[in-house]
Amino acid sequence: MSTYTFPKDFLWGGAIAANQAEGAYLEDGKGLTIVDLLPSGEKRRSMMKGDVPSLTPLPDLFYPSHEAIDFYHRYPEDIALFAEMGFKALRVSIAWSRIFPTGEDTQPNEAGLKFYDNLFDECLKHGIQPVVTLAHFDVPVHLIETYGSWRNRKLVGLFETYAKTVFTRYKDKVKYWMTFNEINMLLHLPFLGAGLVFENGVIDKQIQYQAAHHQLVASALVVKACHEIIPDAKIGCMLAAGSFYPYTCNPEDVFQAMQKDRESYFFIDVQSRGEYPAYAKRFFADHQLKIEMEPEDEAILKNHTVDYIGFSYYSSRTTSTDPEVIKNTTSGNVFGSVANPYVAKSEWGWTIDPKGFRITANQLYDRYQKPLFVVENGLGAVDEVTPDGEIIDDDRIDYLRRHIAEMAEAIKDGVEIIGYTSWGPIDIVSASTGEMKKRYGYIYVDRDNEGNGTLKRIKKKSFAWYKNVIQSNGQNLGSE
Ligand code: BG6
Repeated sequence: MSTYTFPKDFLWGGAIAANQAEGAYLEDGKGLTIVDLLPSGEKRRSMMKGDVPSLTPLPDLFYPSHEAIDFYHRYPEDIALFAEMGFKALRVSIAWSRIFPTGEDTQPNEAGLKFYDNLFDECLKHGIQPVVTLAHFDVPVHLIETYGSWRNRKLVGLFETYAKTVFTRYKDKVKYWMTFNEINMLLHLPFLGAGLVFENGVIDKQIQYQAAHHQLVASALVVKACHEIIPDAKIGCMLAAGSFYPYTCNPEDVFQAMQKDRESYFFIDVQSRGEYPAYAKRFFADHQLKIEMEPEDEAILKNHTVDYIGFSYYSSRTTSTDPEVIKNTTSGNVFGSVANPYVAKSEWGWTIDPKGFRITANQLYDRYQKPLFVVENGLGAVDEVTPDGEIIDDDRIDYLRRHIAEMAEAIKDGVEIIGYTSWGPIDIVSASTGEMKKRYGYIYVDRDNEGNGTLKRIKKKSFAWYKNVIQSNGQNLGSE
């Protein structure tokens, strides 16, 4: 038993996203969304960045989101398994295009609304709080075609309408909301993050930051709407976190690490403090960026800041100004990081750094002084099913144990953390690679990268382990 103390009503659970779990991509009136256009295979990465040759799925490619793990039909069984582990919270996203298939329909799609009614009821029946992200890598494709997605201010009003519709519908069922998943992903994978397509795939910073402004205004407006429609709800932002380390104590490296962190903090500074930070103004001037803002924007951003800081943490990041050092990068990291010789890596090259989790949580809390909610953390790894049908995922248990221990240390440091929903409690499609092989779950799903398999669910060894963690409220993390 550890000496860790978690708050009595700590929200232990798991997190998934509509586009990676639901499947049923055109069922009950749903429209196409970003991820429905992302095939598995080598084209995926350049498309996620904005080089998107076609806004309809092509016949000879495989699109893993189209069926995903069929959560759309199997959610009662899956939620029962989450309940068996003792989940207090389940983070899901609503697919915008289930509610408004084109994004600008005059009436919402009742079948889509009903699906989430049923899903939330199922959670509540088991005493599980739904934690809902409004946009998890999600824009209806019609809005990408018609308006160029978030580069156009038109999206702000359409997103507000969507958000108000779901707040009104689910106000008695959902008390924890989030606006945009990993809002800073817009800078790294702009099509995945915000539906931005660029001519010849050449990313245009002006368009990116204009789109960012629109998302930030939309985020503030939906915070306002949430507070008005559901006064007892909390609504947060969501950052792909993981602090940058300088590779050495050379001041050039240290300064660069600070700047890299600011690329991400930029978003949360606006969402949490309500204004563009001073360094952003210099950045805009240095890059000759001219962000169009409406006169009312300043007040909107100022008056409607988030209640909590949601974040994902998988890895820390490292940066260097030394041309020799930067030759050695870690392969799988979207955020571009040089290899850190002090920490291990996952099979996909993602840095494994539990202490970095404590550091990141402390830095976020120092900066914002608002409750934190860890809404993603976990290890993507290959799992083998033994001839006896077992899955012994000790590496995953080890990763999670060490991270939860560091989270507990952060709480001891005085950081206010309200919950922990580990990523992919049931195996789902990987966002970055489209693979099923990259698994995060406590529950195995029989499906492979090509879409073969029975979709049968099997408990892994980590299932019982996480159940114990929750039951003991973090006291029993198991032995090293
Ligand atoms: C986060 C996303 O970036 O990381 C999730 O919010 C994603 O959607 C998760 O699945 C893990 O990344 P991946 O690429 O391993 O699925």
